[in-house]
Amino acid sequence: MATHLLLLLLLCLALFFLSPCRSDPDPLQDFCVANLRASDITVDGFPCKPTSDVVADDFFSTVLSKEGNTNSIFSSNLTSANVLSFPGLNTLGLSMNRVDFAPGGVNPPHSHPRSAELVLVAKGRLLVGFVSTSNVFYSKVVKAGEIFVIPKGLVHFQYNVGKTKALAITVFNSQLPGAVVAPLALFGSKPAIPSEVLAKAFQVDQQVVKLIKSKFGN
Ligand code: GLV
Ligand code: MN
Repeated sequence: MATHLLLLLLLCLALFFLSPCRSDPDPLQDFCVANLRASDITVDGFPCKPTSDVVADDFFSTVLSKEGNTNSIFSSNLTSANVLSFPGLNTLGLSMNRVDFAPGGVNPPHSHPRSAELVLVAKGRLLVGFVSTSNVFYSKVVKAGEIFVIPKGLVHFQYNVGKTKALAITVFNSQLPGAVVAPLALFGSKPAIPSEVLAKAFQVDQQVVKLIKSKFGN
């Protein structure tokens, strides 16, 4: 009996390690248009609206059709088509952003805990880069029509190195990739991380930390 259990355990481990690298789990039905208002039911994802109420418009969205306003501190603007703005994506394991950049604009260093990211530069020229867990920085200047991939969970950014506006379309293997945006997470969290912690971590004076915090509402 014990041998059988051991064999079963080894088989499960083998299946786990041999399975392709997945992000969101596979759907169990054709579709599951999210009912975002079913707030009393908590599941991993969102409950489905009844199939009889599903219409073609549930699979269509104009959310990415307009250029974002880049008049922001980072001179960039990110618009998301994820399950929250496009409920038809529920359980399908994918989503998309558009990121607009003014010249010199940056999508600041951030990571997605639940997804890899494919970056297609649709307009302009962007420096796109990520840092591995060994602190190796991989980057390229990516031009219109070219793509760059960011492995899951790694810190990355895009920076407009061109003289014109730029546009990136980014694709995720998750319906809700999540984003930890380094400057906001570290200097703009509520409640704030103590300045002495950040001063020690970044090896700067607390005054510098307080100045940066003030830029992010702390
Ligand atoms: C770009 O990095 C994005 O998250 O859309
Ligand atoms: Mn990203």
